[in-house]
Amino acid sequence: MADGTIPCKYRHGILDAVSAHALVVLRLLFWHESTHVMLRHWKLDLPNWQPKGEAPVRIALLADLHPTSWGAVTRCRKAVAMALEQKPDLALIAGDFELIEKYSGGVQEALQPLLKVLPVFACLGNHDYIPEKARRGRMKMSEEDKLATAAALRRRLESWGLRILVNEKISCQVRERELEVVGLGDWWQDDMKPALCMDAATDGPHDKLVLLLSHNPDTSRLLLPYAWDVQFSGHAHGGQLKLPFCECYPFAPLDDKRLARPGLHEIAPGRFLCETSGVGGFLGIRINSPPDVTILDIS
Ligand SMILES: [Fe+2]
Repeated sequence: MADGTIPCKYRHGILDAVSAHALVVLRLLFWHESTHVMLRHWKLDLPNWQPKGEAPVRIALLADLHPTSWGAVTRCRKAVAMALEQKPDLALIAGDFELIEKYSGGVQEALQPLLKVLPVFACLGNHDYIPEKARRGRMKMSEEDKLATAAALRRRLESWGLRILVNEKISCQVRERELEVVGLGDWWQDDMKPALCMDAATDGPHDKLVLLLSHNPDTSRLLLPYAWDVQFSGHAHGGQLKLPFCECYPFAPLDDKRLARPGLHEIAPGRFLCETSGVGGFLGIRINSPPDVTILDIS
């Protein structure tokens, strides 16, 4: 010590203390990132959609609830309250409910305020085809298992009041405006069948707004031959990690990782993808990429 060096036993103690504190700080950062739901609000003036000159259609978009803990259920409740504060005309949920029996009642309760006051349309995501037991690696799945799981989830969610669309189209009206909402099955689970429910794309102005729900944003380019104005997707969870000072999402499970950026992407002239970072996430870890509720005003 006389020569200014720290004895080995003290150095280990100091290193242990620093590591423990660093772990606590990292855990707090992960906790903050994964629990702090942010509101993202976008406006979109569609060049081909007529008529104009009326109040925009306001859509609330949620996705990827992944309620795998009571904390995640609380986050769902918070996301619903945030969406309702914005007084949307309708709500869309872009798949990956990943319901777990233990938390199912909590999720139903969390969604009720939204279901009471708004039409809520949803599609399914890749996790929604996997039985709960198989998610824990205890069961092999056949194609029939997957479809039966998706069908059972659909029945459960519809009994709560959601309108689940799997390769289906529905017409609805927001004030005097005619809308179509299309929901597709999941691409990764080989259940995306646009030919069953979508018209061919046409150029030029049209008076019916077509909203497309497809869980995976990579599908937006594949779906360009079909008629839709705005596609709503999640799946990427904002990459769960965004590198600082750039739009880089190295871990996003996408062919085109640029689509993990939450917000609007012009996929073709006048046709847009609206991507949400989602409400939940994998293992609850998010770094520089918080969960979100997305509000989109379309005029
Ligand atoms: Fe997801």
